[in-house]
Amino acid sequence: MPDTAVVCSSEDNSPDVILQSFRSGATEFLRQPLVESEIASVFAKIELTATRPEEAQHGRVIAIFASKGGCGTTFVTANLAASLARLSRKRACVVDLNLQAGDQPLYLGLEPIYSIHDVVRNYDRLDDQLLASYLTQRSKHLLLLAAPTEIGKDEDVRVEHVTRAISLLRAQTEYVVIDPPRMLNEITIAALDAADDLILLLTLDIPAIRSARRTLDIFTRLGYDRSRIKVVVNRYEKKPEFDLKQVEKVLETPVYGTLANDYQAAIASINVGEPLVLSKSQSRIIHDFGNLASKLSGIKSQAESPAAAKPQRSGWTSIFGSKR
Ligand SMILES: Nc1ncnc2c1ncn2[C@@H]1O[C@H](COP(=O)(O)OP(=O)(O)OP(=O)(O)O)[C@@H](O)[C@H]1O
Ligand SMILES: [Mg+2]
Repeated sequence: MPDTAVVCSSEDNSPDVILQSFRSGATEFLRQPLVESEIASVFAKIELTATRPEEAQHGRVIAIFASKGGCGTTFVTANLAASLARLSRKRACVVDLNLQAGDQPLYLGLEPIYSIHDVVRNYDRLDDQLLASYLTQRSKHLLLLAAPTEIGKDEDVRVEHVTRAISLLRAQTEYVVIDPPRMLNEITIAALDAADDLILLLTLDIPAIRSARRTLDIFTRLGYDRSRIKVVVNRYEKKPEFDLKQVEKVLETPVYGTLANDYQAAIASINVGEPLVLSKSQSRIIHDFGNLASKLSGIKSQAESPAAAKPQRSGWTSIFGSKR
């Protein structure tokens, strides 16, 4: 029970007894007869150390959510994590919470041996090091906590496993990027609760826009602060019938970013199991992911792709209109 603080107390205050109690795992020792002020100070100290250093808040948790299927959640999670890792040169970990059919290994080109199922199996002794051993590495900076690799292993995953895994990951990686299921079940809500940034992903079609509108209402009912919610339009291309300004009006939320529509490039990267942003492709999407990662992290984007290196108008100015 790692959350339990043990306080020993004895009439025998000899150094031997005190030493023995500490060796046995006591956090504090109280002399007898008990003195009120000593009890108060011991309990104050326990409260102060209640947040274990391993779980100190550190990394940023980003959840990508779309309530309508096929909006590109899995593709965006993999590529955003890869972009953040590349831009920051720090660790980014994808968490695949599609427990019944996690596709992240396909998108990241990995064959995981361990998964969140191992977190469940060893929950009693889970710490940051054990969790780290369950991650699959794509590179030094890009990792995956995979969904169960075998059918039927998803059933035992509970909210506390997900919450603790995210909390431990946050302490050891700069970015935790979550691909949650689109059903708003308790596991999804646990992941969204833990997120610093909620990326609400949609495509420019009526069902996706309506679904995003409903999701925003649910987020409000869940008490999520608007500042955490970032609307991102995937597969974006200028369409006369769907002006971004109109979308913003319907959603009553500004559009935080857009990712270009390039099916050939997206599907080619999925087919070879290499995140598009790590490939040599010239796709506009790479540039857009660079912008999104830069905006989220606050790190200035360097020339991420040959397209980005050209002295051209940036994605943001071309989308929102240049003042020049
Ligand atoms: N920006 C994009 N441009 C073109 N195609 C894209 C883009 N983003 C995603 N796609 C394509 O959309 C399809 C669905 O993507 P993905 O599997 O990531 O969606 P999803 O939201 O995770 O779906 P599901 O609801 O089944 O989990 C993929 O074939 C992918 O190649
Ligand atoms: Mg998916």
